[in-house]
Amino acid sequence: MNILVAGGAGFIGSHVIDSLLAEGHRVICADKLIMGKQNIEHITEGDRFKFYEVELADQNKVDEIFATENIDVVYHLAANSDIQKGGKEPGIDFNDTLLSTRALLEGMRKANVKKMFFASTSAVYGEMLDVELTETTGGIMPVSYYGGAKLASEALISSYVSMCDMSVVIFRFPNVIGPRLTHGAVFDFIRKLRKNPAELEILGDGTQCKPYIYVLDLVEVIMKLTKEFKGGEEVYNISVTSEGTTVTHIAEIVVEELGLKDVTFNYTGGDRGWKGDVPRFSYDISKVLSTGWKPKHTSDEAVRQTVKDAIKAGM
Ligand SMILES: NC(=O)c1ccc[n+]([C@@H]2O[C@H](COP(=O)([O-])OP(=O)(O)OC[C@H]3O[C@@H](n4cnc5c(N)ncnc54)[C@H](O)[C@@H]3O)[C@@H](O)[C@H]2O)c1
Repeated sequence: MNILVAGGAGFIGSHVIDSLLAEGHRVICADKLIMGKQNIEHITEGDRFKFYEVELADQNKVDEIFATENIDVVYHLAANSDIQKGGKEPGIDFNDTLLSTRALLEGMRKANVKKMFFASTSAVYGEMLDVELTETTGGIMPVSYYGGAKLASEALISSYVSMCDMSVVIFRFPNVIGPRLTHGAVFDFIRKLRKNPAELEILGDGTQCKPYIYVLDLVEVIMKLTKEFKGGEEVYNISVTSEGTTVTHIAEIVVEELGLKDVTFNYTGGDRGWKGDVPRFSYDISKVLSTGWKPKHTSDEAVRQTVKDAIKAGM
């Protein structure tokens, strides 16, 4: 199949591309390279891989890709993934997350492309701290521009499913970590400790607790569910089967793996890292587990493996 991966040069998208190529598909990657091109530099352009450096909110540019490439399926992973940055400048989430979705859906409508797989997030649920979140939990109210733009994207996608007979799977990821990671607590802590191995600033009070999934586990379930997808519209909460990992425990794992001792943790205080952050959430993942998939790593194991990967990669 000819598969368009929007946001394919990013952390998760590049792993999705690796898997799609390994399965024999032709991949067209469209990305404006916010994070650079290093994640796809190992892939040679040719008959089976083509790269477009493109602003995906630009409808004309997106239409051109659909007109040229005979696309069968779209994997949409393009978004602003830096929630704090978007918090300071809401236009970033509006453009990169919502308008890219709109342009892709419109491109699909005009080119009669019927299938999309969408990378959504736990942030669509907002702050429902003591609720076991299922895919049908209602009354959800995002608390960040990022979550708002993702929920608005999901709503727009649903309307295209109905109006244009599209088929879509929406994956609501938890925190994703692993090789090629460029943001988040694990990444920040390693960077800070490389600069100053004696002290570590930790945002919030350290008790924030989220599930972390290893990126290769995530890509495995995306590939499985997209292959088995029969059509219509499906939403899946994706997560690990273990408890989440607290921010303090992430710091402890990073300290251990870097071989450091006597590091002082300095907490900035408060129950969250920044405005728009959610201190904890809990997913019911019985729907995805009922497909027979099970993640290979617990949340703690995913964190430890990611730190090992980062050290191995020379970080
Ligand atoms: N990483 C996580 O923990 C996590 C959690 C939940 C959901 N997600 C979602 O998964 C997807 C991938 O996340 P990631 O961590 O790989 O992020 P990433 O930032 O590494 O990758 C996103 C890619 O999209 C591209 N992009 C963004 N806006 C664009 C635009 N307007 N035009 C063209 N390209 C654009 C960027 O250049 C980047 O390469 C995103 O949609 C993100 O919201 C990620």
